[in-house]
Amino acid sequence: MKVITVKNQLEGGKIGYQLLKEAMENGAKVLGLATGSTPVEFYNQVVNSNLDFSEMTSVNLDEYVGLDGSNDQSYRYFMNKHLFDEKPFKENFLPNGKAADLDAETKHYDEIIVAHPIDWQILGIGQNGHIGFNEPGTSTDITTHVVDLTESTIKANARFFENENDVPRQAISMGLATIMKSKQIVLMAYGKEKAEAVKGMVEGKVTIDLPASILQTRENVTVIADEDAASLL
Ligand code: GLP
Repeated sequence: MKVITVKNQLEGGKIGYQLLKEAMENGAKVLGLATGSTPVEFYNQVVNSNLDFSEMTSVNLDEYVGLDGSNDQSYRYFMNKHLFDEKPFKENFLPNGKAADLDAETKHYDEIIVAHPIDWQILGIGQNGHIGFNEPGTSTDITTHVVDLTESTIKANARFFENENDVPRQAISMGLATIMKSKQIVLMAYGKEKAEAVKGMVEGKVTIDLPASILQTRENVTVIADEDAASLL
C-alpha cells in the first residue's frame, strides 16, 4: 500500500486526477466511482480537464435504498452534478435504490460488474473504516448486497440531510470481494476524524472489524491522505 501525504483536499484531488489520467493513458476503460465529500475536489479537477470520457464506462460503489435519481441526496444525483452532467460517459451504472426487488437488483448489479470489470477504482473511507457501505463485520467474500447502515454511519452522513431521521437506513453496496477485483485502487482520506480509520487500514491487523484493512492484502493500492488523516501513521 503506497501512502501519499498531501497538504489538503485540493492537492489530493490534483494527484488523484494525475493517477486517473495515467490509468486512462494506459488503457483503463471502466472506472469505479465513489461519492461523499472526499472525492469532490478530485471530480472538480476532472471536470476542468480536457479528459474525454465518451468511450468510458463508470460503475458506482453504492446507492441509498429508497432514493431515486431526482432526490438531491441520492448518489445518482451527486454523480450527475459533480461529474456526469459535465463529462458524458458512454455508460454510467449505479445501483437502483428504488428497485422493487432489492435482491434481484444486487444480482443484476453483479452481472453488470462481471460484464464491465473495473480497471480503476476510487474510494473514500468511513470513520469506522467502511469502504463503499461495507460496514464493520462484513464478510470479505461478499459481492453486491443490501446493507443495514450502522448508527455511526447514519450519524456521520446526517450532515448532508436536513434531519437525521431523513437518512436512509439501508443501502445497496458493492461488496468487499467486488472492490478487491478492481485492477487498481486509489483511496482518499481527509480530516482528523478519519485518522483512526487510516491508521487501522495502513498499519493495523487485517480484520473485518475495519473493512478497509483488507486492502493491505493486495497490490496496486494508493492512499492519498492529508496531514490530519495521516497524523497517526
Ligand atoms: C459514505 C459512502 C462512502 C464514503 C464515506 C465517507 O458512507 N458510502 O463511499 O467513502 O461515506 O464519506 P465522506 O467522504 O463524506 O467522508
